[in-house]
Amino acid sequence: MNIQENISLLPFNTFGIDKNARFFAVAKSTDEVKQLILKSEEMKLPLFILGGGSNVLLTKDLGALVIKMEIKGFDLVGENEEGVLVKVGAGENWHDFVMYCIQNNWAGVENLSLIPGTVGASPMQNIGAYGVEIKEVFDHLEAIDRNTLEIRRFSSEECKFGYRESVFKTDLKDQYIITHVVFRLSKHPKINAEYGAIKQTLVEKGIQSPTIKDISEAVIEIRKSKLPDPAIIGNAGSFFKNPTVPVFTFEKIKSHYPGIPGFPNEEGIKIPAAWLIEQAGWKGKRFGKIGVHQYQPLVLVNYGGGEGTDIKDLSKKIQESVLAKFDVLLHPEVNFL
Ligand code: FAD
Ligand code: EPU
Repeated sequence: MNIQENISLLPFNTFGIDKNARFFAVAKSTDEVKQLILKSEEMKLPLFILGGGSNVLLTKDLGALVIKMEIKGFDLVGENEEGVLVKVGAGENWHDFVMYCIQNNWAGVENLSLIPGTVGASPMQNIGAYGVEIKEVFDHLEAIDRNTLEIRRFSSEECKFGYRESVFKTDLKDQYIITHVVFRLSKHPKINAEYGAIKQTLVEKGIQSPTIKDISEAVIEIRKSKLPDPAIIGNAGSFFKNPTVPVFTFEKIKSHYPGIPGFPNEEGIKIPAAWLIEQAGWKGKRFGKIGVHQYQPLVLVNYGGGEGTDIKDLSKKIQESVLAKFDVLLHPEVNFL
């Protein structure tokens, strides 16, 4: 285990921000993670856990020991007529895991194709896309308690999954390091093609009875057409969550803006943040090295050489103007560091 000093995190975050880690080490096993926790205590430095760096905004150098999670492995830990239980190392790439499931004809994660990042980070915000969230295929996870070094198993209920939420972002923030996630996948696919864009793509391709591979390919096509590729333009996907407002708030906005899109859920009406940001006049706006994406205003971008603090400031201005115009507060999805 090699601990390096003053390492640039530029290659390790999809926003492409050039900030340093005071110390940096890769962990390939649970034991290595435990040793690094002890090391950080010895060094009297905080710890920061990094997966693929696709949901973080670096606003400063990290005076910490950064552990890059690289615990690998796919293990079949259960199987019956219905499906399989697969235990996956936290450091596996999420999309590689999705492809592995599709090759084996195990259904459940095909709608989540091409989401960047690692398997270990997937429960952090209960990743979701195109009508599916990981809580639907999640069985349990294993995590190291940062204080006691004990391994604790978390059920789905204990993870308290919500929309882009889990207990690891709230009550238990910075207390556990996820080492493995166990998923329950099905041998009898329930195809979920309800999302408008998927339906439309399948019609265009003339596919009437889609397989999980067809769904995955449709999702990949849609995502490539909508979202900027971080390898070309730095970004972290949706910068804000889509807000849910009470019905009366929605009706009030609608009386002034009849075209407002809204999707009812248990708590009220979900409004696309992209629509609010576009109406507030930010779509495609560029400010030097950073800006608001030209096709998807929910995505803030770094054209190269931008600073995390500038992106943070821009996000505050967007929040303020959406609040002033619609009386709706946008909450960031991205983790500020
Ligand atoms: P990181 O950014 O490295 O870390 C995120 C947070 O999790 C940090 O707080 C980190 O400390 C913590 N963390 C990471 N690994 C662990 C671990 N093993 N144990 C404990 N804590 C850990 N998200 C969606 O939900 N749906 C989408 O459709 C989607 N599309 C995206 C598209 C693009 C182009 C991009 C760039 C991002 C998108 N995202 C999406 C956001 C992102 O991909 C997910 O949040 C992903 O799960 C982050 O994984 P990561 O490994 O990169 O996490
Ligand atoms: N819209 C506009 N203007 C635009 C673009 C979109 O008004 O320029 C409105 C339209 O009404 C459109 C709506 O926004 O119907 C929704 O857009 P889209 O389908 O692209 O989805 P999104 O709300 O922007 C969410 C997730 C994505 C996920 C997709 C697909 C959040 C915060 N974002 O995006 O997740 O991939 O749906 O399910 O929930 C992420 O979390 O990082 C992420 C990319």
